[in-house]
Amino acid sequence: MTDANQSIVLIGFMGTGKSESGRQLAKILGWPFLETDSIIEENLGASVSQIFSRFGETRFRDEETAVLQGLSIDRPAVIVTGGGAILRPENMACIRRLGTVICLTANLATLEQRLEDRKDRPLLPIENRSETIAKLSRARELHYEKAADLTIDTSRLDPAQVAELIIKSLALSH
Ligand code: S3P
Repeated sequence: MTDANQSIVLIGFMGTGKSESGRQLAKILGWPFLETDSIIEENLGASVSQIFSRFGETRFRDEETAVLQGLSIDRPAVIVTGGGAILRPENMACIRRLGTVICLTANLATLEQRLEDRKDRPLLPIENRSETIAKLSRARELHYEKAADLTIDTSRLDPAQVAELIIKSLALSH
């Protein structure tokens, strides 16, 4: 394994706290922090919502795959993926190659609460949001399970606690 393969990749449904937990984890470890959604936004000069509405989901997914395949990492990093990144087998292969894959989860009530007022999730319409969250998360459950080396339920944890738990679980020094 080269250093780059010892990265930590966070996967999981929207609202499980990947971004904030990942940011805090990277800060504690002193590792670079990379987030595929932000890289896509930077590359296209548009927000994820704008990309979905202007170009459609398939284009976003293509960009997501390209970003994952093009990640150039020469030392361990914390990499946060979008909630749907695990849907394509080629993304899964990429994610698994990068290092330890940690899936963040949360119960439905927590997801609903965290995502309630968010307008930056194009897959979650305002109407029937709870139903959509339940349906989408159920449909993805197995994908997340299959990809993960470790799963952490964040329902009762804040991002700092999630970061500490990851460090403890992987016996990382900082
Ligand atoms: C998506 C999750 C989002 C973003 C896009 C699609 C999904 O990322 O990539 O809206 O399919 O679950 P977060 O998981 O960071 O919200």
